[in-house]
Amino acid sequence: MNIRELLQDKVQQAMLAAEIPAEYGPHLAPSKKAGFGDYQANGAMAAAKALKSNPRDIAQKILDNLDLEGIAGKVEIAGPGFINIHLSDTWLSSQAVEILGDKRLGMTPVESAQTVVVDYSSPNLAKEMHVGHLRSSIIGDALVRALEFQGHKVIRQNHVGDWGTQFGMLIAELEEQLEDGEAAEFALKDLESFYQQAKQHFDDSEEFANRARDYVVKLQSGDERILALWSQFKKISLQHSEEIYEQLNVTLTESNVRGESAYNDDLPKVVAELQSQGLAKEDQGAQVVFLEELADKEGNPSPVIIQKQGGGYLYATTDLAALRYRANFLLADRVLYFIDARQSLHMNQVFTLARKADFVPDSISLEHHAFGTMMGSDGKPFKTRSGGTVKLAELLDEAVERAAALIAQKDPDLSEEEKVEVAQKVGIGAVKYADLSKTRTNDYIFNWESMLSFEGNTAPYLQYAYTRIQSLFRKAGIEPAELDGTITITAEQEKALTLKLLQFSEVVDQVSREAYPHVLCNYLYDVASLFMKFYEACPILKEDVDNATRDSRLGIARVAAQTLKTGLDLLGIETMEKM
Ligand code: ARG
Repeated sequence: MNIRELLQDKVQQAMLAAEIPAEYGPHLAPSKKAGFGDYQANGAMAAAKALKSNPRDIAQKILDNLDLEGIAGKVEIAGPGFINIHLSDTWLSSQAVEILGDKRLGMTPVESAQTVVVDYSSPNLAKEMHVGHLRSSIIGDALVRALEFQGHKVIRQNHVGDWGTQFGMLIAELEEQLEDGEAAEFALKDLESFYQQAKQHFDDSEEFANRARDYVVKLQSGDERILALWSQFKKISLQHSEEIYEQLNVTLTESNVRGESAYNDDLPKVVAELQSQGLAKEDQGAQVVFLEELADKEGNPSPVIIQKQGGGYLYATTDLAALRYRANFLLADRVLYFIDARQSLHMNQVFTLARKADFVPDSISLEHHAFGTMMGSDGKPFKTRSGGTVKLAELLDEAVERAAALIAQKDPDLSEEEKVEVAQKVGIGAVKYADLSKTRTNDYIFNWESMLSFEGNTAPYLQYAYTRIQSLFRKAGIEPAELDGTITITAEQEKALTLKLLQFSEVVDQVSREAYPHVLCNYLYDVASLFMKFYEACPILKEDVDNATRDSRLGIARVAAQTLKTGLDLLGIETMEKM
């Protein structure tokens, strides 16, 4: 149980004892301003309003019944009826001792674990991964890590685009290049230019275009030779994605891939089911569902095409099939989608229709966690100088190169091997953190200088704060595990830092619930900043510091280091011992 839950319980008990009906909760939260205690319970106001009584009187009644013996140093009523709780230094010290050396920082696994399906990354295999897939991959991966850390059962789903008419064209191109004696790996080395060649071919040659169309039909009817070419294409394209995941420290593997093609056999069933329920109707030869639930201002229902005139299925049909699979076969309690905000209408249609058609149980939570676009410094969607899409692989290489140049300058004393390691972790960490630390629903401007800065809310700053604590231990000549495990808070900076450290699990819970990783970033930034203040105000290795004080402060530093490490790890960002 974390501090928030503990105080919540205590205040709730006091409210019940004061005969305030159970529906009025404590409204407990960390205090936002200094001087108002560490936590505030604001429930007296709402209860007083409903009970037509004076909020300060209600607050007093709660206070009279509130037992925070040994936990709080002072509890007081402020303003119209806030209850301010000041935690005791002794109690905080004892709580901090309990998480010394604990990698989980006192976080116990959730009591009732949920099955959470997370759909993320999901690139289109016809093309190379580009910056558009960066956000989904790293935000989704941060959530997956936080949910698993809490103890939920997480099922990753990489819903790759591996089906559709463009594959006819790509297979025809691959066939030709193989006939010319090219090895498949080589032909598909650069997917982007391979796609361009195929498109050129398609536009220039009637004969090629016809063959491509024929291959689409053959692919759908399961022609073995065409399927084999398709598999070959898919395999190589997936290898490209996997290299990126590895470079990015994203946990997706081949076993998480369940592409659009996996649902082929279900698509006619989805359409038939929607027809038999009277939901799908023929409209100009196509099968369409009109959703009144999502009608526009004029009252026109929102159309969802589930089958085209020629019989082809659509993106929405596949998503409906995928959702049925996730709900009824994977038995998901929650399904999270990390997809660009531009697909919000699509997701809304899919969710609304799936519920309307009873494809999913009522209890399931369907969540589209949308994000904004990554912009260049000109404020327009991020592009190369010549206006092309930026390949993710190239962007990541550049990040590591830039970090290497910085490290060479800043840390000339590291060995060559260490420099390579640090450049990799700082470069990739910087790109990921810059993205994760912004409120995901907003667009954001991609800027090398600010993300690689060693000051401010950046990955290098946090990684540096971690290494600083490690070097403190090296300087002290003490192994963290050798400390005797006593912490005594005396200074105000010790208290502020320790309280923050004890709030780690509250933050992870919030991130998992709301799917906003920037909350964890802001928290870690606070930890690092409070550590720096503590370090300035509370000497550790100076000669006049007695051993007990030194060890107590090293204990706090140790928990701070562990918090930074575990927190960054949940964001998919690596730390190092030296930089
Ligand atoms: N392949 C799609 C794209 O690149 C994203 C798929 C997202 N997931 C989903 N279930 N629709 O835009």
